[in-house]
Amino acid sequence: MATTDTSTTTDDALLSMTDVTSGYGNTTVLHDVNISVREGEIGCLIGPNGSGKSTLMKSIYGFADVQSGTVQFRGEEITGRSPQENLAGGMSYVLQDASVFPRMSVHENMLMGGYVFDDDDRAAERAEELYDEFPILGDIRGQKAGTLSGGQRRLLELARALMVDPDVMMLDEPSIGLEPRFIDDVFERIEQLNDLGTTILLVEQNAEKGLSVADRGFVLASGEIKFTGSGTELLNNEEVGRLYLGG
Ligand SMILES: Nc1ncnc2c1ncn2[C@@H]1O[C@H](COP(=O)(O)OP(=O)(O)OP(=O)(O)O)[C@@H](O)[C@H]1O
Ligand SMILES: [Mg+2]
Repeated sequence: MATTDTSTTTDDALLSMTDVTSGYGNTTVLHDVNISVREGEIGCLIGPNGSGKSTLMKSIYGFADVQSGTVQFRGEEITGRSPQENLAGGMSYVLQDASVFPRMSVHENMLMGGYVFDDDDRAAERAEELYDEFPILGDIRGQKAGTLSGGQRRLLELARALMVDPDVMMLDEPSIGLEPRFIDDVFERIEQLNDLGTTILLVEQNAEKGLSVADRGFVLASGEIKFTGSGTELLNNEEVGRLYLGG
């Protein structure tokens, strides 16, 4: 869903951070961060290693400490809400170092993704729906997750995060370490999901690729948002190109 309007205020945002300063304990990593993503959009966060991209996602989801400022979801303040509450509330998160349970089968891993459901039948039904969408996973549902290839594992992580049928999905570097053909596959999935209505916030080290699918982009450096704009605007911004796109 491409849009060129970047004048989003937090009023019409689905997910936003307002003046967030955050980190871990007494360590501050992010300084006065403001970002917002509207319903149905893909937001993409880029920036150098160590700039705080993962910390930004963790600050939204409750894995890092928000020291000041607020996080809002659907107009409601969720600052400091726990990851479990966020998952149950319609947000799912694939961590950068997301992993699967290697000794469990693909199917058991999928069921773990639905652990917030009260009833096990619901989880099993949802897994079947996802095997229809990801036939590769259906085919290997009995295989131990520890024996999957990198691309298969990434798909399992993605599908497992979809067990709760989230409204928002946060993906931290979904393409890292994958061969080009798997990268394209993962990006196709992301765009498909977005077309079906899932709002997405993405961290992507392949900045060109990430911004090219994004409605809205954010450049983070040294814990501060340096640029915000539509994906196209950032791709065409000379300074962003020179500093962050290697061009
Ligand atoms: N659990 C933690 N406790 C203390 N400091 C941390 C913790 N996790 C990350 N940091 C620090 O926060 C800073 C930002 O790290 P973060 O992982 O958010 O960067 P990033 O932009 O995601 O980097 P990369 O591109 O390498 O994934 C780094 O200086 C890092 O050392
Ligand atoms: Mg990171």
